[in-house]
Amino acid sequence: MSISNFDEHMNSLSTSDLFDAFGAIVQPMASRSLLCVAEAELISLFEQRGVLLFRGFDLDPIKLKALTDRYTESYSGDAYRREHRFDSKVIRDVDVGSQAVLLHSEASFTPAWPEVIWFYCVKPPQKAGATILCDGIEVFQALSQRAKNFFLINPIRYDLDIPTGRSLPGKGEQPWMFQVPGAGDAVVQWDTGRVRLTQVRSALTEGRVAGTLCFANHLIVEMDSEPQLKRRSLIDGTELPPEIRDEIKQVSDAKTREVAWQAGDLLMIDNKRAMHGRRAYPPGDARDIVIVQSNRASFAYGATTRHSFEKVKTLGRKGENYGNQQQAKV
Ligand SMILES: [Fe+2]
Repeated sequence: MSISNFDEHMNSLSTSDLFDAFGAIVQPMASRSLLCVAEAELISLFEQRGVLLFRGFDLDPIKLKALTDRYTESYSGDAYRREHRFDSKVIRDVDVGSQAVLLHSEASFTPAWPEVIWFYCVKPPQKAGATILCDGIEVFQALSQRAKNFFLINPIRYDLDIPTGRSLPGKGEQPWMFQVPGAGDAVVQWDTGRVRLTQVRSALTEGRVAGTLCFANHLIVEMDSEPQLKRRSLIDGTELPPEIRDEIKQVSDAKTREVAWQAGDLLMIDNKRAMHGRRAYPPGDARDIVIVQSNRASFAYGATTRHSFEKVKTLGRKGENYGNQQQAKV
């Protein structure tokens, strides 16, 4: 099905649904260069759909970096365990191994929680190994009233031990500060180059589209998928109630979709809305997917979905007081 609102603006692109209302497939019509795409329209589509799959474009690792630079203000450091690729500081391997990885929002347990992540397919798996995606808005909507209330009122506590790859032997320990809400009790151990800290964070995020809440966190993935994560609990140190844990697993499983990779595909994911993971694949398969993490995007959160000026005009007609208050602020 065509996404008509965007077809008329994006002359060089063809857009269609990826999974119903979640995600869109973007393909070239004229130019195969993604650098020629109208940025505002692309950002608008991304903010509405949560995931964009670019297919059929002329992309290589150098062009990929040029593209992500355009939509990135700052990159995340990514896990030290992941190898750099293509002589780039920002392009890294995904986690090694062929085992399944359950749903998660990339690095959602750390102070450096990327707003946008990108997966580029160098070589698709021959068999199985699909990337899985799940819309956090759909998950939240499908949760029971009890589970919704639970996550609205209970933040999650993540205890971390992160290797930085840089050590200063003999310098001992030093308190540290990340200046990120919920990140505290941080200590740098210079001898080992490790940082210990606690990150407290809601399992829910306000979406880019007004009135939406996204279930995007690190509650579903197995603990052994993430060596930096030492403990995951509620704020008082207790475990997630089993019935809540079972419900989020069951609901997210039902909402999980698969991306069947083609060489040269690029996924742009709203990491504060969508969760991702991967299906297992046979050991020895040459599946090669790389990741780029945009800690802070170059466009504001909700940049294309807020219509404040229009709302003020409308409210001003319906209720002069509200309208006048808004105008007074201006
Ligand atoms: Fe991941």
